[in-house]
Amino acid sequence: MPHDPAAILACHGQRAPRYTSYPTAPHFTSGSGSSLQGAFIETLDPKEPVSVYLHIPYCDRLCWFCGCHTKHTLRYEPVARYVDSLVEEIRLFRERVGCRLPLDRVHFGGGSPSMLRSAEFHRLNDALDEAFELLPDAEIAVEIDPSDVTPETLEGLRLIGLNRASIGVQDFDPDVQAVINRPQSFEATRDVVTALRAGGLCTVNIDALYGLPRQTPERLMRTIDQVISLEPERVALFGYAHVPWVKTHQKMIADADLPDEAQRFADARVSAERLIEAGYQAVGIDHFAKPGDRLARAAREGRLHRNFQGYTVDECRTLIGFGASAISRYPGGYVQNAVPIHLYKDRVAADTLPAEKGYGLSEDDVVRAYAIERLMCDFSVDFADLDARFGAAARPAIRAATLKLATDPFGLARLEDHRITVSETGRPFTRIVASWFDAYLDEGGVQYSKAV
Ligand SMILES: C[S@@+](CC[C@H](N)C(=O)[O-])C[C@H]1O[C@@H](n2cnc3c(N)ncnc32)[C@H](O)[C@@H]1O
Ligand code: SF4
Repeated sequence: MPHDPAAILACHGQRAPRYTSYPTAPHFTSGSGSSLQGAFIETLDPKEPVSVYLHIPYCDRLCWFCGCHTKHTLRYEPVARYVDSLVEEIRLFRERVGCRLPLDRVHFGGGSPSMLRSAEFHRLNDALDEAFELLPDAEIAVEIDPSDVTPETLEGLRLIGLNRASIGVQDFDPDVQAVINRPQSFEATRDVVTALRAGGLCTVNIDALYGLPRQTPERLMRTIDQVISLEPERVALFGYAHVPWVKTHQKMIADADLPDEAQRFADARVSAERLIEAGYQAVGIDHFAKPGDRLARAAREGRLHRNFQGYTVDECRTLIGFGASAISRYPGGYVQNAVPIHLYKDRVAADTLPAEKGYGLSEDDVVRAYAIERLMCDFSVDFADLDARFGAAARPAIRAATLKLATDPFGLARLEDHRITVSETGRPFTRIVASWFDAYLDEGGVQYSKAV
């Protein structure tokens, strides 16, 4: 029998990590970044392809819902100076590694990398070229705020060889846009999508949000229909994470304007149904893709992965993050750069890689990270697979998750044939089931965003 979502959340806790890494970033330790990064770099195989993430922490508008590491600026000068540091950081990295690693994908995220002018795209492109060996089919992805896009932006994007654009929409309703400080017309967005596609090389992802203030089911459905009419290859439908104790500008959003638990739950469900009706395949907990898209194929074939940017087909074991707050993932663990922009720039100016926090994975962490990634991607974890990969090291994680499953009164997951599988009831609560493998969940007083 279906359960009331409020009862499930009341029992299991309202909040859970998004598991874009395990352990999650709040568990990285301050001050250890630099030495760990040095050790991780030593172990890199010069022939193994890597991914790169470039963080641009600036926006020319500040949306009140925003949860990203970004800073509002009306002047371009600080952005150009920040790119000086990025170029220098890439050079320092190349010097430290001692060779040009093969590069399989580049993701420009933010913030709004679409703020960059073509001169800065040019400089970053040259820096990457000097430091890495770009592979012929490399994916070049950029997060784009359509309100930034000018003919010069398009020229810059062409120059770096953009082949995947991720466009922020959130919601097209003017009332919702007014209370999140993000005016953005459907027509202007459509024109940007058309311009980006003009060369025929670029696939499009659109980000939309549910759980926003003043959203009603009708308004949200209208937005989803407008998104569908733009025919993006992929749609990311995120639940708005309201964390005003971390992002103080979110206090501009009145609690009274926010939908309640039941509404968020219903909105997520009907939006997903609408996208599926329109021919999209659900991918993981919050992505949708046309069935022929690489992400949809990877999901069907059990090859989907999850990293700091969400769901991906990226198979690289190493992701190198450049820029303030950027996180790198190496086979041995994580490193996060200094978050305040001035601190990041000072470190680079002093000729040091700007790593601040770090985390070295234990054998048990590696098992749990693998189990959580499979659960978030496939809604299922095969204990025989864990056994085969990790042997006795897998036992504590299997035992902990089995115990949680046995005490869950709602049937969020079932255990059959030595495999844990999220049930239909449990699908919207997948982050909660994933947390059964998390050894650090109750440590350190971290308050995560809502689980649904
Ligand atoms: C860096 S922004 C995308 C590019 C560009 N800055 C823009 O807004 O169009 C990344 C995405 O994160 C999502 N996002 C931002 N703040 C969020 C929050 N508080 N909760 C959930 N998703 C959020 C939005 O969907 C946004 O499109
Ligand atoms: S949502 Fe995008 S444009 Fe708005 S403040 Fe955040 S990063 Fe900047």
